[in-house]
Amino acid sequence: MSEPLLQVAGLTKRFGGVIAAEAIALAIPAGECHAVIGPNGAGKTTLVGLLAGEIAPERGSIRFDGRDITALAVPGRSQLGLARSFQITSLFADFTALDNVALAVQAHDGHSFRFLTDARRDAALREPARAALEAIGLGSRADARVDKLSHGEQRQLEIAVALATKPRLLLLDEPMAGLGSDESARMVAMLRRLKGSLTMVLIEHDMATVFALADRITVLVYGRVIASGDPAAVRADAAVREAYLGEQDARHG
Ligand SMILES: Nc1ncnc2c1ncn2[C@@H]1O[C@H](COP(=O)(O)OP(=O)(O)OP(=O)(O)O)[C@@H](O)[C@H]1O
Ligand SMILES: [Mg+2]
Repeated sequence: MSEPLLQVAGLTKRFGGVIAAEAIALAIPAGECHAVIGPNGAGKTTLVGLLAGEIAPERGSIRFDGRDITALAVPGRSQLGLARSFQITSLFADFTALDNVALAVQAHDGHSFRFLTDARRDAALREPARAALEAIGLGSRADARVDKLSHGEQRQLEIAVALATKPRLLLLDEPMAGLGSDESARMVAMLRRLKGSLTMVLIEHDMATVFALADRITVLVYGRVIASGDPAAVRADAAVREAYLGEQDARHG
């Protein structure tokens, strides 16, 4: 059997006395949509930061595509095909949707933001940017300024920004956060279309969404993995029901 695309072992990170990640192990094969769930403060965003290279672990290792990337900084990981979206929006508000994506393409290609005016004109940047917008269903909003987009459109645009760099692994930190039900449904449909064509680590609070999208689920509590497996196994896991899905459920379910 070939090595998983992402393999994490013993990943540990504390903030002062707070254990945000404790000996986390994960193995995610290429093409999988892997959800990470857990209560507030469980360490989900910390895990994304560790995987993206924004946070350095105290211990443990991260292998991606057969390489040890534990010591690799964010740009190096991005070059290898790791991309993330943020729990809170990270767009340039007074630029157009297309410009935001073109800038991501430019940054990924190793150019500097200094050549901003070039980025806005350069066909080599605009064409992949437009393609990413189309893929996400935002093609018609390419020339709209970010601050004129709805919140849902902004979240979609963030995914387009991440996709523009043609990642192999996409880290999604609560892409549905703050969306209304229609916008959430559109985002879920979009992620479902992406599923299979790239590997995803999806942080998500809404259980219906998680069970609709995930091939496998890892449950974090206080920085520790308390369960990991396919959705049916995780749903039935007594520790998960106790710690996360609610004791009520565990007693009567
Ligand atoms: N930069 C930091 N400095 C200090 N403590 C931090 C830092 N980042 C995270 N923490 C703490 O680490 C723990 C895990 O936080 P994290 O943001 O990873 O949780 P989370 O599962 O993403 O929570 P949420 O569901 O609210 O987004 C929390 O106790 C948090 O307060
Ligand atoms: Mg978080």
